[in-house]
Amino acid sequence: MSPWWRPEAGVSPCHANRLRSRRGPRRRGRAVFATWTFTWVAVLLLAVLVLSAPELTAAKKAPRKETDLARAFGYTEREISKLKAGQVMPPGGCSDPKDSDFFARFRPYEEIEKFLRDRLCQLRREIGSVGSSCEVVEIGHSVEGRPILAIEIRNEEALAAAKASGKTKKKEKAALITGSLHAREWTSTTSVLLTIMRIDVTDVSVFAIPVINPDGYVYTWSGEKQIKKKWSKGAVVEDEVEARYWRKNRRVNPDMTLGVDLNRNFGSTSAIWGTDKKSKSINLTESDIYQGTGGFSEPETRALRDYHKKHKKRIVSFFDVHCCIGALLEPFSREGKAPDYVFKTGQVVIDAINTKAPPDAKYEWRPRPVSSASGSGISSSWAYQEARIPFTYVVELRGKFVERCSEIKPIANEILLGFRALLKELSRMESIMAPQPPKNEAALRVSPADSTDVELADVATTSQKPHQGSSTSHKAMFFLLGLICLAGGYFFKTKTEKLV
Ligand SMILES: *[C@@H]1O[C@H](CO)[C@@H](O)[C@H](O)[C@H]1NC(C)=O
Ligand SMILES: [Zn+2]
Repeated sequence: MSPWWRPEAGVSPCHANRLRSRRGPRRRGRAVFATWTFTWVAVLLLAVLVLSAPELTAAKKAPRKETDLARAFGYTEREISKLKAGQVMPPGGCSDPKDSDFFARFRPYEEIEKFLRDRLCQLRREIGSVGSSCEVVEIGHSVEGRPILAIEIRNEEALAAAKASGKTKKKEKAALITGSLHAREWTSTTSVLLTIMRIDVTDVSVFAIPVINPDGYVYTWSGEKQIKKKWSKGAVVEDEVEARYWRKNRRVNPDMTLGVDLNRNFGSTSAIWGTDKKSKSINLTESDIYQGTGGFSEPETRALRDYHKKHKKRIVSFFDVHCCIGALLEPFSREGKAPDYVFKTGQVVIDAINTKAPPDAKYEWRPRPVSSASGSGISSSWAYQEARIPFTYVVELRGKFVERCSEIKPIANEILLGFRALLKELSRMESIMAPQPPKNEAALRVSPADSTDVELADVATTSQKPHQGSSTSHKAMFFLLGLICLAGGYFFKTKTEKLV
């Protein structure tokens, strides 16, 4: 008979134990019993450890002050104190403040607004970006009354030529790119700004909203501190955060707390807004993900919704820029996996971005979350399922919320490449993309196999990457093994007690 650490061939440790216990536990006595109990406990502990590992790491990460991040970047204490004061101009990564290069550093909101109203269109001409028409429009107002600005860039000649050649009988196509839905994600705004300054526009127009959440953005420059709360392990935990890390808008909630997470506020129906029935934080007004009192309760999300409504027939792509995962996210849809053309075009965008992205920070495709809860009130859930924008993506930039100024241009230039590739794809697909988004549920369930929309199916390829399997099943298996072993141990224990 083999010892406990070398079970009989072909017999699992758990099973072997049961066999042995039948063969006479009395002989092995307490020592063996102790050994086995020890093993069960160890297995169980290991299982628990593995299962709770992500939570442990999360718990460790949570209290990490963002100033640590700055330290990790090599900022000096003096620079960090400036960061705290909201003047994010750490000398380490920034040029002389007198440098006229707009992208040499991050800019307060007034400078961005001025740049959009007075400089951008002129700059486009000066540097020779293709696309003659450039217009600034106000699409709504924030909670605090700031105008929300959109830029519309067209190439009238190319549009006229496309029409004349019969290439397109329908209205113009446009790609919408947006930034700073979340206030602290400054690189999203700089990336949108640089992209629309340099992008060549031909027969696909570009609409851009560089700062959807101006109030939040302004607040991130205030140097203030604010209490933030969230539900964690059955209790509300409180944390003081610097304004630089403010995420929401500046709504004064009914209970006098501040802010609604705009990226939980989209959706006209209960199928899109409020689908997360589990997260308690989503209804906690002081949490970072407070969803608001209803879908589109906020003027900022309404502005986007109404702007889309106005250009419903034109907008074929929505490119919502966020930070900081380093990925392109597939929109959530309760209708199931997106058709292949969404994935394929996304892959083209990622490849373009990755030609420039640093080797250790390549962008990845993130398949849609498995549950509708994860898509609750999110911009892309609305854009894809309600606004029916076929090419809907959330871009999660690489980098950090507090990014070095020297990274502004590299990050933005990568997005420029990605967006350029997207426009090229949309242009190539122009005849198919004359936007007739599916109007009902059934029509949205378009897939290459059962598609009635032959043109869209033509675009699709079979190159879909296998979506990543989750490690949850492994964990579940591990846990189950632990449980079985524990049960075995208990069974053995009671037997031994009777016998000894
Ligand atoms: C949040 O509040 C809404 C409306 O009061 C409610 O329907 C929903 O179930 C709540 N969600 C959670 C996760 O408690
Ligand atoms: Zn974000």
